[in-house]
Amino acid sequence: MQNHNLINPQQSVSDTQFGQSYETAYQDFQWATAAKTLLGERAESNRFNQFSVCIARHAKASPTKTALLWHGKDNVREAYTFSALEAHALKFAQALKKLGIEKGDRVFIYMERIPEVFFSTFGILRAGAIVGPLFSAFGPEAILDRLQDSQAKAIVISSTLLPRLNAVRQLLPDLEHVIVVNRNPESNDKLKNKEYCYNALVEAESATEAGLPEITADCSSVMHYTSGTTAKPKGVLHRHQAVIAQAETSRMVLDLRPETDIYWCTADPGWVTGTSYGMFGPWALGCTMLVYEGGFDASKWYELIAFYKVSVWYTAPTAIRMLMKAGDNLPKQFDLSTLRHLCSVGEPLNPEAILWGKAILGRVFHDTWWQTETGSMHICNYPVMPVKPGSMGKPFPGTEAAILSDDWHSLGAGEEGHLAIKPLSPSMFKAYWQKEALTQSRFKNGWYITGDRARRDDDGYYWFVGRADDVINTAGHLVGPFEVENALVEHPAVAEAGVIGKPDKDRLEIIKAFVSLKVGYTPSEELAGEIKQFVRKRLSAHAYPRELSFVENLPKTRSGKIMRRLLKARELGLPEGDLSTLED
Ligand code: WT7
Repeated sequence: MQNHNLINPQQSVSDTQFGQSYETAYQDFQWATAAKTLLGERAESNRFNQFSVCIARHAKASPTKTALLWHGKDNVREAYTFSALEAHALKFAQALKKLGIEKGDRVFIYMERIPEVFFSTFGILRAGAIVGPLFSAFGPEAILDRLQDSQAKAIVISSTLLPRLNAVRQLLPDLEHVIVVNRNPESNDKLKNKEYCYNALVEAESATEAGLPEITADCSSVMHYTSGTTAKPKGVLHRHQAVIAQAETSRMVLDLRPETDIYWCTADPGWVTGTSYGMFGPWALGCTMLVYEGGFDASKWYELIAFYKVSVWYTAPTAIRMLMKAGDNLPKQFDLSTLRHLCSVGEPLNPEAILWGKAILGRVFHDTWWQTETGSMHICNYPVMPVKPGSMGKPFPGTEAAILSDDWHSLGAGEEGHLAIKPLSPSMFKAYWQKEALTQSRFKNGWYITGDRARRDDDGYYWFVGRADDVINTAGHLVGPFEVENALVEHPAVAEAGVIGKPDKDRLEIIKAFVSLKVGYTPSEELAGEIKQFVRKRLSAHAYPRELSFVENLPKTRSGKIMRRLLKARELGLPEGDLSTLED
């Protein structure tokens, strides 16, 4: 926390779009002004939406400008202008309308990172429906939870993922339409009764807004599911107005300049970073964006930066640590000199990663903190502000942050407590889907309680301490222990299960499961492996226990709740704390 660790800004104040000192910007900032600068008169009337702001207005003003540079995992390359995106999205919106999709219906997207993800996202938004993005690594159990909870009416799915939906299809009576994207058109004939071919639907339509409903800033837009401690994931509902905050943070934090930048966000659109900053913010500004279909691969990533001349890069600490592991010689084989500004999100960014970036890439990673619920960056390191390695930075202008005590009163500098945010940003979530009491429970004394613990130092920088609940952060993805426990007990051998996050030097945390077996089963390595794979397949490749221990009994409270805190303390050799509620 000492100032001697300060890294001074790499760009001079006059060069950045922040344009002034942090303090001045914080003082002067007004959301209404930001909205007006972005949208002019339409800002006040609320007559704008994420399709009009991110796509349609650029299609009109600069139709031939490239919006999307897509790089397939087999090195196929495709490029789409803003007007091409507009046409694809409008045709899909018309197709949805024809299928009877109405304002507020939930339409999910379940595909690998292919261009149709982007076309259909904006098509769904223009049709007035709510987009439900699903991560392509999800298994049948994970998609069932989300489609069921939201009573989804339609899903746009890639043919490769169709078997996972079919495994649970009979449990989804509300799911009327399954729209299949197949990039290998020959097999489209195999579609069954209630499945539509995406291409055929879209080809039958024309690219017009005629007949589509009016969508305004306060209409619901996107709903990502996020994990909690004691229940299955809940839907976090956002509104079109979020685009104001997504655009403004893209300008002031990512420092995006549409005329010159090539921007790359490595997050998958199944997660909020991949929509807020892998679509909305950058496209609201009219930026050209790279999307890579494949996953992490150190030399491929460097190659992409060099080939596409990426200048602004938004990624995650786990990826940065993996790049560090791949060695310092690798990046020297590529021309990475176009990189101008680097940002990170999702987990604490360790000081070593920042120092490594500075030494090896010649650029400092700027940490940003936010959540699915906040919809846009809320505590950040700004291009004009010195970076204190290890700190998340300071509240975004137009927001307010605080550290609160257990009875929700503001604490002073140096004190650790609950990280809280004043719900001032237009991107703040509207509600948890059909969970009014849970939504209310996150607000105390006018503050939104984030579920994180943190500290503020004398200079106003915020420092992440940990989660206030049992939610696990593995490689930047939140996983609720309850979901994993549920999947574990569905295995025929498992009687009971308790799940914790175990610190890990690469992934921040890994999921560790403690399992007691039913009578007739005996612990073995083989069974452990089988149970892990069972969860991996049903739930998700990112949410299965990498470690599993068999136990006779799980520690429980007298009311029968598994004491994860105690499992964790025992695993880590920490003090066991108050055991008064432990059953005998
Ligand atoms: C949780 C939100 C919104 C980005 C993707 C995650 C953790 C996020 C940081 C950071 C330390 C961070 C927090 C937060 N987190 N950014 N810079 N430093 N922790 O969205 O899945 O809703 O997760 O991720 O615990 O509450 P999410």
